This record gives sequence, structure tokens and C-alpha cells, in this order.
Amino acid sequence: MPLKQKDFVSIADYTAAEVGEIIDLAIAQKAELMSGRLEPTLKGKTLGCIFHKPSLRTRVSFEVAMHQLGGDSLYLTDQEIGIGSREAPQDVARVLSRYVSAIMIRTFDHSVVETLARFATIPVINGLTDLLHPCQVLADLMTIQEHRGNLDNLTVAFIGDGNNVARSWINAAAKLSLRVVLGCPPGFGVEKEFVDRALDGSSGRYTEVNDPVEAVKEADVLYTDVWASMGQESEAEKRKKAFAPFQLNSSLVAKAPDHAVVLHCLPAHRGEEITDDVIESQRSLVFDEAENRLHVQRALLSSLVPSGGGN
Ligand code: CP
Ligand code: NVA
Repeated sequence: MPLKQKDFVSIADYTAAEVGEIIDLAIAQKAELMSGRLEPTLKGKTLGCIFHKPSLRTRVSFEVAMHQLGGDSLYLTDQEIGIGSREAPQDVARVLSRYVSAIMIRTFDHSVVETLARFATIPVINGLTDLLHPCQVLADLMTIQEHRGNLDNLTVAFIGDGNNVARSWINAAAKLSLRVVLGCPPGFGVEKEFVDRALDGSSGRYTEVNDPVEAVKEADVLYTDVWASMGQESEAEKRKKAFAPFQLNSSLVAKAPDHAVVLHCLPAHRGEEITDDVIESQRSLVFDEAENRLHVQRALLSSLVPSGGGN
């Protein structure tokens, strides 16, 4: 079913029903792909993928998803395009709208994605900014739904930095009435204004605690991510010290309920935010989670990119 929104910039722009529809479609298409019944509904369509930061999962899963739907993809680096230096984002948006069927962008400044979305006549998908990583959290939700059968009364303990992934989890909490507990060192939480805006009028819950054991004690999901995100490399050493007590290791996992599963968006810095034994443990759904980037983004493309005439 086509979505009401043209773009996917933030989970905050979608209703709970729309998030549910994308996840249900992703699960259905995953089964269709496995049984060879997936319909190539985007023949003749092209996804322009713009990357200002490196990627394994986002690039490969979007490009493969597009090919599986019968379409094509273009990998565009900022060295070629120069958004904001060689050319204004609004002009890039208008020109790409004449050639391709949708844009997926990974960049630093979230406002660049918002500007592209505003000026493009085609769908714009956020493949990660410094602020948000909404495609990741869609895949995470799908993974949990597959594992648990539903997302009801879910408590997610996010152990680590109040970063782009954590903020997208807060948006998901607001939309789906989930509970997110961030366990982080003092000074590394999510900005109060972001939390207040995200949760305004919702029954989602968000708590920040500076004790990792307190954070995990009621968790259904134990989530972690790198301590220094892309763009924060110069802070890596300082962060390693601050975050050391927040490593997701077997002794912290043992403090969580027995049923709690482990997620990590990857890439993982094994031995820093997560240990080898935890990522390789029975509780880890990390590689299903990575696979689900493909399925959820294919569902997103199917829902956002109009089939039929035109580019
Ligand atoms: N999780 C994720 O977005 O991975 P990449 O940075 O490899 O795309
Ligand atoms: N928070 C990480 C996520 C990588 C997928 C980063 O922004 O680098």
C-alpha cells in the first residue's frame, strides 16, 4: 500500500500503523524472496544513493533491494556532487528528481536531508545523519517482531552513547508506546529538547540512567552501538575511558532478564562496546538484524517509489 508521506526522514513523521505496515510488508516480502515469488515491481526505476560517510550494510542492502525489485541503483559520493560546496542542496534535489526515482542519502548534517526532501519531487530516504538512523531502527523493530511475535510492552535498554541510533529509538518509543532506557555516562545522554519533542503527547517512555546494571534490569532487548560515531573519531580515546563501565559483556548481560536478546546495529568494535562472547551468544540476533536492513528497506522502497510511468 502506498504511504501518505513522500519521504522517510524520521520515524517521527510516521504513524504507528504505517510503521507496522512497513514491517508486515518486509516480513511478507522476505518470505516471497525466499520462495522465489517476489514481484519485480520497480522495473525501470533508479535509486540514487548518496554517501558522505562509509557504509557496508546501508549501501549494499539498498542497492540489492532495488535490484531485487527489478530496478537499478547509482552510488554517488560527495566528491562528485559536492552538496553545499559545488552545488546547493535544493538544486541537487531538483536535478536528481528529473533523473532518478528516489534518493537515499547518508550524510552528517540532518538539515541537508530535510532540504533535499523539501525540494525533491521524488522520495528521499534518510540512510543516517548525525541526528538519526531511522532505517536501522525499522530493521531492529522487524527483528524483534520476528523473534517475539509483537512489539507490545517492549523495554529496550540502550547501553552506550545517546547518538543517532538512540534518538531514532526514542522516536520509535513515542510512536509505538515502547520504553527505552539509556544507560550512559553523565554528559552522553540525548538532548532534553529532543526527548521532550519526541515524547510530546505520546505514551512512549524514556529514562536515562548512569548505572548500566540499573539500565538492563527490566530489558527485553539489550542494544549497543559504537562509543564514537562516524565524525567523532577524534574523541574516540576520551570516549573509550568514559564508556568503559558501559561495555555489554557477559556479566552485564547476566544482570538482565533471561529472555533478553542482544542487538547491535554494526559495525561493532569488538572488545569495546560489546565483547566477542556476547555478540556470538545464543541471545544475539545481530546478524538477523543486519539481514533485515535488506528486507525492511525493500519494503520501504516498494511503499514509497511509485510504479508506473516516468523516471
Ligand atoms: N548499521 C549500518 O548502518 O551499517 P553501515 O554503516 O555499514 O551502513
Ligand atoms: N552511531 C553509528 C552508527 C553506525 C551505523 C555512527 O553514526 O557511526
